[in-house]
Amino acid sequence: MSEVQSKQDFLSAIAARRSIYGISKERIVSEERIEEVIAYAVKHTPSSFNSQTARVVVLFGEQQDKLWNIVTETLRAIVPADQFEATQSRMNTLSAGYGTVLFFEDQDVIKGLQEQFSSYKDNFPIWSNQSNGMLQLVIWTALEQEGLGASLQHYNPLIDAEVTKEWNLPASWQLVAQMPFGKPVADPSVKEFQPVDARIKVFK
Ligand SMILES: Cc1cc2nc3c(=O)[nH]c(=O)nc-3n(C[C@H](O)[C@H](O)[C@H](O)COP(=O)(O)O)c2cc1C
Repeated sequence: MSEVQSKQDFLSAIAARRSIYGISKERIVSEERIEEVIAYAVKHTPSSFNSQTARVVVLFGEQQDKLWNIVTETLRAIVPADQFEATQSRMNTLSAGYGTVLFFEDQDVIKGLQEQFSSYKDNFPIWSNQSNGMLQLVIWTALEQEGLGASLQHYNPLIDAEVTKEWNLPASWQLVAQMPFGKPVADPSVKEFQPVDARIKVFK
């Protein structure tokens, strides 16, 4: 893979990453570049025992439309009809960009680790989730660095079976999160911060 150039320093990029809900389909970054950045993140994000349990599916254009149709129809079956307008409006917002990243963890690898290292059995699913969260942050921040806006969504496990079927994915890939992205067209909401001093203790 070619060198992935960083446009901002690391800490600035961490602070600049926000939940961006106002996104459009205007293609300001090529699909190839997005694929390259995501592949780089998947390759370099750490995992317990270097188990590399994360799996990612990137959906562009009509493929992501299929995803948001699955979410919409799944919700239509369970949300009371008089409340569905708000749900539909949220679906329209989340599907307004040009892609969605799906994050998974391969449960077969996790089961194998549990058998191999039984004394850590209970930890592997926790570490798997932690590692996937790290990957989510890396990809979220990397998309921000490319000038894109993204948010983090969780319609799993409601949509798991349909997603596995639609894209013919291995049954062992468990869906963890969905990240719709696109050209940012609205500012993020004002973010409140608790005093950081109260959240950190330093001893020296
Ligand atoms: C583990 C995790 C789960 C989240 N789940 C959702 C979600 O399901 N839907 C959503 O809109 N935002 C979700 N968020 C986004 C948070 O609400 C958001 O990151 C937080 O309010 C801080 O705002 P910021 O992302 O703009 O910095 C999630 C964030 C994290 C870290």
